[in-house]
Amino acid sequence: MRNNNYPNLFLRYLLFIIAVFGFVTMVMIQYTQGDNRLIVLATLIIAFIVIIILIYHLYENYVKPMRSSIEVTKQLANGKYHARTYIQPSGEAQQLSQAINLLAKNLQEMAIQEKMQGSQWKTVIDNMESGLMLIDERGYVHLINRKFKHLFGDQNGTYIGHLYYDVLPQTNIHQVVQETFLYEEKITNSVKIAIDGDAHYIEIVGAPVLTEKNEQNGVVLVFHDITELKRVEEMRKDFVANVSHELKTPITSIRGFAETILEDDFEDKAVAQQFVNIILKESTRLQALIHDLLELSKLEKEEMKLSQKRIDVDDWISGIITIAEQQAEQKSIHFESSIESGISFYGDPDHMQQVLLNLMNNAMSYTKENGEVSLSIRDEANDIVISVRDTGIGIPEEAVQRIFERFYRVDRARSRHTGGTGLGLAIVKHIVEAHNGRIHVESTLNEGSTFIIYIPKKL
Ligand SMILES: Nc1ncnc2c1ncn2[C@@H]1O[C@H](COP(=O)(O)OP(=O)(O)OP(=O)(O)O)[C@@H](O)[C@H]1O
Ligand SMILES: [Mg+2]
Repeated sequence: MRNNNYPNLFLRYLLFIIAVFGFVTMVMIQYTQGDNRLIVLATLIIAFIVIIILIYHLYENYVKPMRSSIEVTKQLANGKYHARTYIQPSGEAQQLSQAINLLAKNLQEMAIQEKMQGSQWKTVIDNMESGLMLIDERGYVHLINRKFKHLFGDQNGTYIGHLYYDVLPQTNIHQVVQETFLYEEKITNSVKIAIDGDAHYIEIVGAPVLTEKNEQNGVVLVFHDITELKRVEEMRKDFVANVSHELKTPITSIRGFAETILEDDFEDKAVAQQFVNIILKESTRLQALIHDLLELSKLEKEEMKLSQKRIDVDDWISGIITIAEQQAEQKSIHFESSIESGISFYGDPDHMQQVLLNLMNNAMSYTKENGEVSLSIRDEANDIVISVRDTGIGIPEEAVQRIFERFYRVDRARSRHTGGTGLGLAIVKHIVEAHNGRIHVESTLNEGSTFIIYIPKKL
């Protein structure tokens, strides 16, 4: 590094020497005469020149590089790792400059690496799927990540540098922090918070931060959003409760009637026959229920593979139409079908037939005598559109979203009468979604319903 003081310094040395030599020359002129004076003056001039050359040499080769090195070391100490000193052509000064430049280069590389590592950590921490908060031993927040801000709100960055209990109102979190400090082990708890107006369940895990000497100097809190897990858990609980309930009713009835017949010792044959008929009906219902449950569980297994092939609609639909016509005749319902000819799509023929039978069955069950049921299949852009329309009892608006839930029935008493299990539409939805399709319902109470299915023509 060049420093402007160096020439000044050299100039000062020069002036000092000139002054000394000037003084010595004056003294010598006083005490010498003639030739002697000339010799002394010549000697002094030569000595002056030699001293100047010597000082210049020392200055250039030792003082100047030393100063430059000091300057560079100061800059390195201040973190300016790009600083470099001159490399001297020879001598110890050359070695010193080289050593300092090598040190500067290594420091610069280390700083770059550290910076890269730091930004990598920041990227990892910020892109974690869980919220993170680091609290020191005095309770001050040192670090939070992006997910944390998403869960608990940004609050204009008022977390860092504040006490955790001042910035987090949830007492469950305070408890986790305190217990983690107290027991020096992993502590778990959960908290319910609102995000964009929706309730979310957050699992909090507190873990102690230990130094190399195993002394605790903070707590790291990790927050997992477990809302979806909770929902699935609730659904499973509901499902088990519903299944038990659904199974209990026919079994109680079967048992009750069987016991009555036994107590009666088959005395009244007519009554016994009536009761046996009820037993038969209830056991058929039980069988249907178990069949549907197994069907659903098969569909839910991820390994369930559809055996997809090209389905020619004309051939495939003919069987369904025959069944529908028979059903319609039995119930005195007017049935109509409109099938676009020559169309085809990729799908699992058996499962798709099950979908149509379920929808047709519903249309017939929930339509009164002399009503109308119609089936139409048409080709529309990338989809095959299947729609089943009826002029039946319709579905109340608030129930439309729920009819695909397992065991959901608008009118439980009526469904029981029709022998429905409430699983039909859940199965339908599963199959349609397995085909990457979607199902849509339009319904007006007391006027009728239309179920429309869109199945992509290609795989
Ligand atoms: N076409 C329709 N018209 C009016 N309501 C309907 C229609 N289709 C379905 N629903 C209502 O949706 C509920 C759920 O239908 P879903 O087919 O899943 O069950 P289900 O018909 O009761 O029994 P099953 O499982 O034996 O079919 C029915 O109980 C009924 O209340
Ligand atoms: Mg049904």
